[in-house]
Amino acid sequence: MTARKIIIDTDPGQDDAVAILLALASPKEIEVLGITAVAGNVPLELTQKNALIICELSGKTNVKVFAGCDRPLRRDLVTAEHVHGKTGLDGPVLPDPKIQLQDQHAVDFIIDTLRECAAGTVTLCPLGPLTNIAAAFEKAPELIKKVQEIVLMGGAYFEVGNITPAAEFNIYVDPQAAQIIFRSGVPITVLPLDVTHKALVTKKRNDAFRNLASPVGIAVAQMTDFFERFDIKKYGSEGAPLHDPCVIAYLINPDLFSGRHVNVEIETQSELTLGMTVADWWGVTDRPPNAMFISDLDADGFFSLLTERLAML
Ligand code: RIB
Ligand code: CA
Repeated sequence: MTARKIIIDTDPGQDDAVAILLALASPKEIEVLGITAVAGNVPLELTQKNALIICELSGKTNVKVFAGCDRPLRRDLVTAEHVHGKTGLDGPVLPDPKIQLQDQHAVDFIIDTLRECAAGTVTLCPLGPLTNIAAAFEKAPELIKKVQEIVLMGGAYFEVGNITPAAEFNIYVDPQAAQIIFRSGVPITVLPLDVTHKALVTKKRNDAFRNLASPVGIAVAQMTDFFERFDIKKYGSEGAPLHDPCVIAYLINPDLFSGRHVNVEIETQSELTLGMTVADWWGVTDRPPNAMFISDLDADGFFSLLTERLAML
């Protein structure tokens, strides 16, 4: 089996960090062509720095990291320091990165990669607001058809919103970008809150990370110790939901997940429900399905895979 070529578009973010580590620990299944940073959980100057920090933590210092858009397409930036802390990677104390950003803008890297690749061979994995991907689609629409698949973390249906009563953070920050993606015609798989809220880092699971007794294992456990406060307080959950690693685990072993191919539209007009992913789960409209909307996972299988792979870094 040849490794799947992906671009990770990300706003680290502790859960983004774990997703990046999982991808870099899985070279048989995944070839990371590049990591593109976007403003989201924290401003761009922090998300780009955090992406470099995580690549150094993984030991894979040859990974190319690009800085992308510092604000949404049409709206002011909304950030989530209340969840991720002021650095975006609160929890562990990690050194400033020695590796440097690439000079090229992330949007141009995405465009050049799609232009140079064979059609259907590159998967885009957005883990934050969809600004970079949408900007690339707007700048080079002729390349949209070359994308193999978009596998993204974002949205919610039964779980409803986490940043407003109706919207999940990644979609809410840039709903116009999300609408461009969901109307692009590219095959899309969505890992929404409906499934990521079932990927909870319980104490036992976090102890398994810590007991790896490696810099990676300890750092992931410390990230979770910080990151879980918000969800435990808000939802009374048993631990932090590992949102973004679900995207990478889906690529490695899709059998861990299940969902339904449905129509998903994005609310871009109403202030009350802005950024809502309106998923036609029950097929009550004649809108054609445009996304595989994942609703469930084998949580124990997910954490076994994740822990086993983190042990390899
Ligand atoms: O709503 C969860 C998503 O928003 C995750 O990707 C998290 O990192 C934040 O970006
Ligand atoms: Ca994220």
